Formats: sequence, C-alpha cells, structure tokens
Amino acid sequence: MTDLELVKKAFDMHRFSYVPYSHFPVGAALLCEDGRVFTGCNVENAAYGSTICAERTALLKAVSEGCREGWTAIAIAGTGEDYCWPCGACRQMLYEFAPHLRVLAARGDGQFQQVELSQLLPMGFGPKSLEK
Ligand code: THU
Repeated sequence: MTDLELVKKAFDMHRFSYVPYSHFPVGAALLCEDGRVFTGCNVENAAYGSTICAERTALLKAVSEGCREGWTAIAIAGTGEDYCWPCGACRQMLYEFAPHLRVLAARGDGQFQQVELSQLLPMGFGPKSLEK
C-alpha cells in the first residue's frame, strides 16, 4: 500500500465522522506490516470531553482485534488549511505501541506531510519508562 493510498483511506472515513459540534471531520488509517489497515473517524459527544479522535478509534480497533505490533504508518486526514497532526492524547496512545511509527498528516486539499512519531513526542513516556 502506498502512502497516497493510505491517505485516501483516511479521507474516505470522513463519511462516518460524527461531528455535530465541531463540524470538523477527521479520518485515520493505520497500516500494519501484514497489510491490514485499521480505519477510524472522530466520534463526538454532547459531553464534549468524551469525544474520541479518529486516530484513537483506529488504534482501539487494532488493539481490540489483537494487532498490537508491526504498525508501520498512520494517515490522518482533516479538512482544514493546516495539516492534521495528532493531538497530545493520540500521540501518547500511539507511542505506547509504536514509538517509531510514520505519521502522515493530510490537510483539506489532499496534501500531506510525514514525520516519525518520536519527533512529535520527544522524550516520550512509554512502557520502557516503567522498567526499574
Ligand atoms: N480530532 C481528531 O479526530 N484528530 C486529531 O488529530 C485532531 C482533532 C477531532 C476531535 C474533534 O472531534 C474535532 O477533531 C475537533 O477537535
């Protein structure tokens, strides 16, 4: 799967976003080394803080279906003028399973940029941090 194909899968998820409050749909697509792709969208809530981002939806789908390792890239697609970089909570959740994950952040016009997750969360706290 090419990066462009993964980004397209993320954009495709906008149709499932539940965004009555922000009107800002976000889609995500998480690629694993075995070729599986776990997709997600943002799901908002009247209690705003209970909202879940697209990236964490995709992550939870992967983990809850037994896929915890071998994650190679995640594409995140927003509709804004700026690239849709993951929020702090999503960076932390992704870091737990794949600190070196490639992150592809797309903006509304379809352009995207790539960085490694460890650049987005330098000196992150992960499973190794709990070792004594
Ligand atoms: N959102 C995501 O789904 N992922 C991001 O990376 C940034 C923000 C969602 C949360 C909320 O539904 C809407 O975008 C506005 O913050």
